[in-house]
Amino acid sequence: MDERPIGIFDSGLGGLTAAEELRRLMPFEDIIYIGDSHNMPYGEKTPEQIVSMSRNNLRFLLEHDVKAVFIACGTATTNALDILRKECPVPVFGVVEPAVREAVKTTENGRVGILATRASVASGEYQRLLKKLSPELFVTANACPKFAGMVEEGIFDRHDERVLIAAGEYLPPLKAAKVDTIILGCTHYPLLADVIRDFMGEVKLISSGAAAARSLCALLVEKGMAREGAKGETLFFTTGEARGFSEKAGLMLGRDISEKLRKIQPLSFDRGGKI
Ligand code: DGL
Repeated sequence: MDERPIGIFDSGLGGLTAAEELRRLMPFEDIIYIGDSHNMPYGEKTPEQIVSMSRNNLRFLLEHDVKAVFIACGTATTNALDILRKECPVPVFGVVEPAVREAVKTTENGRVGILATRASVASGEYQRLLKKLSPELFVTANACPKFAGMVEEGIFDRHDERVLIAAGEYLPPLKAAKVDTIILGCTHYPLLADVIRDFMGEVKLISSGAAAARSLCALLVEKGMAREGAKGETLFFTTGEARGFSEKAGLMLGRDISEKLRKIQPLSFDRGGKI
């Protein structure tokens, strides 16, 4: 058993979709969550900037003596996972592989769609791994640059016109490709699941964050690293504005986190260097 907390980071609120699933599966774990809202959207940054911001988040988590780091961000996983894994003294988990594995198991017609940020789609990581695990799959990926920002602003109601316009912009290629399974490759997107379903009709949605939480849980249990005993606690940190973060997190989680939230100084993203 390892008593130390699990560290989770995202560019903002999206990673809460992963943190919440982990908390449900592993209620005895302490969790340290950092949302780098000041620097979001990561999806519009260069790979170098994404690596640098991810390193900062990871340093912050290591200062809290975490036993494992969960990158609850598709963009940071696709652009920085391999680098962080080499540099970090504790195990680092990302969202891509678990989501891809679930998609491969889920699809019945062999046609899989990916919705993710611009930087994730450009990295080709989701597409590459899908093809590697199941070469005969037909894969369609589309970037949705406005989606994460909307969710971060608390705009995700299925009837909100701004959301509907964005969905009309991003989803037609997946509909035309007749996909039966879609990977929500950015952890902000599960908040838009209703909108995506309304547009797409019958389709299975894979939440990358939740899929990764399930796989992380299995791994920690297998390695004897899970914590047991008293109920764990989640502490939240944001580099953005605390009130906005806690209001929107409250909307997403259905509970008030303001007592457990601290604002920290924005982490400068040119600190460079390795972990
Ligand atoms: N939640 C992040 C992801 O999973 C990205 C949002 C952003 O662009 O910052 O990709």
